[in-house]
Amino acid sequence: MPKLIVFTREGQRLEFEAATGLSVMEVIRENGVDEMLALCGGCCSCATCHVFVDPEFADKLPAISDDENDLLDGSEQRDARSRLSCQLSMTDALSGLRVTIAPED
Ligand code: FES
Repeated sequence: MPKLIVFTREGQRLEFEAATGLSVMEVIRENGVDEMLALCGGCCSCATCHVFVDPEFADKLPAISDDENDLLDGSEQRDARSRLSCQLSMTDALSGLRVTIAPED
């Protein structure tokens, strides 16, 4: 199973085994990290699943959709590493992925 490494807002490092096909948001939520609200449940309509992805993995990520891009534009915290974690599915190619939960807007 691919591995996902998550840094919380307080800087705590967590490591999870992630079933292939689950979104990064689902893995984070299912492991009890409740600082990620994910209010829309993964429908790409809330942006409360915002993460910063380690740039080392940037070229392995799926392309950003217009909807995701528009939602991220609404965040004051957005930077070049920003993605919505509900839009990133775990695959073997992403094993070891490192994400940091973005500060709340
Ligand atoms: S959970 Fe709402 S946009 Fe990702």
